[in-house]
Amino acid sequence: MTWPATAEWTPGGELTIGGVAASALAERYGTPLYVFDEATLRGRARAIRAAFTAAWPRSRVVYAGKAYLSPTLAAMLWEEGIGLDVVGGGELYAGLAAGVPAAAMTMHGNNKSERELREALEAGIGSIAVDNDLEIEMLARLATEQASPIPIVMRLNPGIIPNTHAKMLTGALDSKFGFPITTGAAAAAVDRVVAAGCFDLAGYHAHVGSQVFDPALVAETIGALLAFAAIMRDRHGIAPRTIVPGGGFGVADDASGDDVSIETWATTAAAALREGCARYGFAEPELVVEPGRAIIGPAGVTLYRVGARKEIPGVRTYVSVDGGMSDNIRPALYGAAYSAALANRTAEGPYERVSIAGKYCESGDVLIEAIDLPRLQPGDLLAVPMTGAYCLAMASNYNLAPRPAAVLVNDGVSRLFRRRETYADVLASELLPELATS
Ligand code: LLP
Repeated sequence: MTWPATAEWTPGGELTIGGVAASALAERYGTPLYVFDEATLRGRARAIRAAFTAAWPRSRVVYAGKAYLSPTLAAMLWEEGIGLDVVGGGELYAGLAAGVPAAAMTMHGNNKSERELREALEAGIGSIAVDNDLEIEMLARLATEQASPIPIVMRLNPGIIPNTHAKMLTGALDSKFGFPITTGAAAAAVDRVVAAGCFDLAGYHAHVGSQVFDPALVAETIGALLAFAAIMRDRHGIAPRTIVPGGGFGVADDASGDDVSIETWATTAAAALREGCARYGFAEPELVVEPGRAIIGPAGVTLYRVGARKEIPGVRTYVSVDGGMSDNIRPALYGAAYSAALANRTAEGPYERVSIAGKYCESGDVLIEAIDLPRLQPGDLLAVPMTGAYCLAMASNYNLAPRPAAVLVNDGVSRLFRRRETYADVLASELLPELATS
């Protein structure tokens, strides 16, 4: 179970995060509540940056905003020297709203629209990770409006398969992302980019998956990118100035074992770069990494209020909470394993095995399939750690549920940075209200 660095339990059995009691947070802001610990967020950002800088001085860390892009948090990460990887116009907009310079951003996506590409170029984006032929065509058209060549990296598909959930794989040949190297598509795409004459091809990118726990894969990815770069150098005389092996650094959840230290990721990546550059005679390029979950996952804890209980003798006991798949779809979508702890009082009596169910109208809305907890009472607070990444980011309004609030805690102070949605917010995009009254 990974709790934020500041999480503590009082002698009375109460959870505090950032020096603020979970029960006080729930009382003040309501539940479900996403609590982000500023010290953990900044601490992880600093540690990741320091590890990569130590291993490879010419390195840069960009935060994969898809994990959860709140302007408040992106601004904080930028203060820590962390740039931003954005997917699409919405994330670009949020990054700009956060005050992150466009030059510190990369735009990703396997089907960027012409509008999104134009917005990125008009903002002065640092790099576009080009993913497909249509995008090359669209960018070449847009280039006529540009004063200077368009800065790109090519997103390649190296055919590397990590041992992770099938829905988190992105670098196997059968993927919608990137130009496959093995089929010749990647080389043909570079030919087109070079022939177009309007691109500044800085280098190559690959992201092979998320929740990767084997550092050898980052080395393999870098090796594949450099081997491809060497062929392109021989063909076009262009050496890579930037190598981007993506993000995906695994963070332990209840099913995935221990974290690999960030130092190990960094030194493994650096060793692979050094070896590849020596082998192919490249000057040392800049190394860019794009962690999302490893930065924000452990900073987040969700607080739920316990409600109904249903005991089915000989089958199981369901304890329902006041959130579920609309704020955390990951158990339903990936079978992701979470843990939980009673957060408002000392545990009394024996533990019992229960399933923690969400409140939405879907049998699969079960947050935790089986967990041993003290007997929970209606009104108790349940804290679920490791929910900073891909929870609020993927939240929905299923059952027209207003999405939760999010609060930052630090040094005994809490600050609401995302208010709870209202029923009116949930209906805000609905048009033709007259039909409802006729
Ligand atoms: N870079 C690229 C190009 C990516 O596609 C991703 C994630 C990342 C970086 C960041 O990966 P991370 O360090 O966060 O693992 N919704 C899924 C994860 C999807 C990740 C998609 N791409 C989940 O909830 O686990």
